[in-house]
Amino acid sequence: MVLLRNPSKQSSACLLGLLAVFTFAFLASFTEAKVHFHKFVIEAKPVKRLCRTHSTITVNGQFPGPTLEVRNGDTLVIKAINKAQYNISLHWHGVKQLRNPWADGPEYVTQCPIQPGRSYTYRYTLENQEGTMWWHAHSRWLRATVYGALIVRPEKGSRYPFPMPKREFPVMLGQWWDRNPLDVLKQALFTGGAPNVSDAYTINGQPGDLYRCSNKETMKFPVRAGETILLRIINSALNQELYFAVANHKLTVVEADASYTKPFTTSVVMVGPGQTTNVLLKADQSPGQYYMAARAYESGQNQAFDNTTTTAILEYKSVSSRPPLLPQLPAFNDTNTASAFASRVKSLKSKANVPTKIDNNLFFTVGLGLINCTNPNSPRCQGPNGTRLAASINNVSFVFPRRNSLMQAYIQGQHGVFTTDFPPTPPVKFDYTGNVSQGLWQPTRGTKLLKLKFGARVQIVLQDTSIVTAEEHPMHLHGYSFYVVGMGTGNFNPSTDPAKFNLIDPPYRNTIGTPPGGWAAIRFVADNPGIWLLHCHIDSHLTWGLATALLVENGVGLLQSVQYAPLDLPRC
Ligand code: C2O
Repeated sequence: MVLLRNPSKQSSACLLGLLAVFTFAFLASFTEAKVHFHKFVIEAKPVKRLCRTHSTITVNGQFPGPTLEVRNGDTLVIKAINKAQYNISLHWHGVKQLRNPWADGPEYVTQCPIQPGRSYTYRYTLENQEGTMWWHAHSRWLRATVYGALIVRPEKGSRYPFPMPKREFPVMLGQWWDRNPLDVLKQALFTGGAPNVSDAYTINGQPGDLYRCSNKETMKFPVRAGETILLRIINSALNQELYFAVANHKLTVVEADASYTKPFTTSVVMVGPGQTTNVLLKADQSPGQYYMAARAYESGQNQAFDNTTTTAILEYKSVSSRPPLLPQLPAFNDTNTASAFASRVKSLKSKANVPTKIDNNLFFTVGLGLINCTNPNSPRCQGPNGTRLAASINNVSFVFPRRNSLMQAYIQGQHGVFTTDFPPTPPVKFDYTGNVSQGLWQPTRGTKLLKLKFGARVQIVLQDTSIVTAEEHPMHLHGYSFYVVGMGTGNFNPSTDPAKFNLIDPPYRNTIGTPPGGWAAIRFVADNPGIWLLHCHIDSHLTWGLATALLVENGVGLLQSVQYAPLDLPRC
């Protein structure tokens, strides 16, 4: 283990790092892999939406932020300069960051946040990965406005597994508050209740025609009659799963979470926060304007949510003057359509490389909870029945450290920042999706990690609970993609359900929604050492503690070990 407190070791690590960069650049000139340098200046800029101007945190003054376009094998060097008044860090959602948790970004997990006036350079290489990814802030709720697309194309000379259209568009679905999102968070943290719902959804930053003061800027996607285009749909909304459709047009899904799928045609797509879905759209309708629209899929019971609809316009070159048609979207609580859609997503491979023997068989309950208050009338206990809302995995509500990041504490051998006693199964077994007794609603708080040996073959069953409400939780694992070998409703049955697993062509994803009141089983090989956050990508749930982290130990030798920490790694 390297102790970065030793200054002579630091400078040699620095030299090694430089050497590595130069060797890489040298090798890259042969393989055609490129190194892309970018500056991301994080700063407040006036952004006007819904008739009002807000001082919004942006990257390079853009909202949404810049789209990064690279190829598989390329290296990105992004200098993040924090000119905002908040601590911040950036995450590259979907990038595996092999042996390189230092570039992953979640604050207090793999790094301390970048403080105002400071900077940090993220360096990473796309290794055997291609497709639609994205980047976003990973600090409190800053990702409400700090996000952008990361498009990874196949290496030069290698092809898409489908006829690639000439024209493509990122379709970033977002969520807008007519307030500073950090104030919404602050208020929720104070009251212990649910945060205020958003005021609009957006497509590439624009709410669209159905909102006040918005129709001049509605996003338009030009097409020529007869051509096929690729839409890279990214759910970058903070707290809401969304349905998406285009009036009169069918969509053919070809990729999900940067992994190719067997193509299938649908009229509606469901995307959870964190998920991406690429679809082909053939402009085969009579030339005109057609709305594309997104609105909530809300699987929880009695939950307040934003029930507005965001639109953009698919515009044929020769426009007729008819007003655009709106697509039909499923009802807000239409779980059948969401599950049917999720179950149609299958890996393009005819035989995927799914682990069949399992070393670590884990069972995680995921769901909400309530913290009881000694004084239920306190202004700080405005959750259901005078409680504070919480969330947990296996009854542990995750607490992010403050004094150091988990990775830095781990590498420095600093004690007292985390423990490694995260329970591999729920501490108490109960009917998870039944009528759960109130005595089981209160989680415990802790910074508990689960340790895995390098190379371990892991299965995790993510079991939703009906505590407070059953609902879909889009669970995202950093540092990995995983095979989703099974999903079901009710309680997972370990004696009958595994027989129904798809070990042939399961989807390979980085974010999977637990069906509401159901379960999802995932498998992966723990071949990426480091500390990797596993969390619900609904930020309000993450705020309440719906997270844990996997500590994957080093294997043998440098190629199975975490890289040296960069010298400019922020300090807490
Ligand atoms: Cu897209 Cu932990 O994040």
